[in-house]
Amino acid sequence: MTDISIRLADTAAEVEETLAALLPSPTSNGEPLAEARVINAMRYACQGGKRLRAFLALETAAAFGVGRDRAMRAACAIECIHAYSLIHDDLPSMDNDDLRRGRPTTHREYDEATAILAGDALQTHAFTLLADERTHENAFVRVQLIAAIAKASGAGGMVGGQMIDIAAESAEAGLTLPEITRLQRMKTGALIEVSCKAGAILGNANAAHKRMIEGYARDFGLVFQIVDDLLDIEGDAATVGKAVGKDAGKGKATFVSILGVQDAKDRAERLTAQAITHITPLGERGKTLADLAKHALARQS
Ligand code: IPE
Ligand code: IPE
Ligand code: MG
Ligand code: MG
Ligand code: MG
Repeated sequence: MTDISIRLADTAAEVEETLAALLPSPTSNGEPLAEARVINAMRYACQGGKRLRAFLALETAAAFGVGRDRAMRAACAIECIHAYSLIHDDLPSMDNDDLRRGRPTTHREYDEATAILAGDALQTHAFTLLADERTHENAFVRVQLIAAIAKASGAGGMVGGQMIDIAAESAEAGLTLPEITRLQRMKTGALIEVSCKAGAILGNANAAHKRMIEGYARDFGLVFQIVDDLLDIEGDAATVGKAVGKDAGKGKATFVSILGVQDAKDRAERLTAQAITHITPLGERGKTLADLAKHALARQS
């Protein structure tokens, strides 16, 4: 394994453990709660995953001198939002998928109502984690973090992007390249961007450093979704952990649908180089983020 793969795997294990401790418990005094089903579904949906958003938050925070415990809470909050977005993305009314992270999707393992509620509760749980003073002793920093993550998750970010994605399936005219770029930036890029921004907010980074990180995250987010779209065509379900070959069947608007496989790959390569250029002035402090961008381009799952 390469150095970055080892670091990612170690971080994923650490996030898995911390998230399990930060999520609500389905029992009280050893007795199951009446609402245990939704809590178990929340916990189920949070298991597995590459923890890339957490890694981005942790590494950006480390670049700006933030202690790992604090950054870990913000990283786990973002993973809760991400898990919620996946639960809802997989629902029959959205992408109607049965497999996620190599296991049945939450609505298949539980039921639709429980899955919707688990998604809702994961979203609010994320903000409960962020609002706690263990995330940062300065309430102003916490509010900045909450505002940025709320904005990235909502209609101007992930949710808005999901809306455009769903609407495009049945639209008469295909989306243009700038429209697809905006869609992907909102649906996937926004949460990736705010994962990096979270580290910069916690570390009180200066404006120039924030701009570098924003530039990196913007390009990284686009590459991440291009590779996801390529894996839907060229990947193998057992490795990817979710069904493949579904985007074309559903008429999804993706970079690959508009550019074709080769141009999409070239674009992803160019964007990766550009992402790394943005953080070159950070020197050694930006090395892990640069390695991560190369890793995300080459990923098979
Ligand atoms: C999947 O995200 C959804 C997209 C935005 C493409 P990831 O590929 O990061 O999913 P996990 O968390 O590793 O399962
Ligand atoms: C999902 O994009 C993005 C969000 C959940 C916000 P996709 O629909 O392409 O993700 P997968 O392929 O199901 O993971
Ligand atoms: Mg989708
Ligand atoms: Mg999907
Ligand atoms: Mg996909």
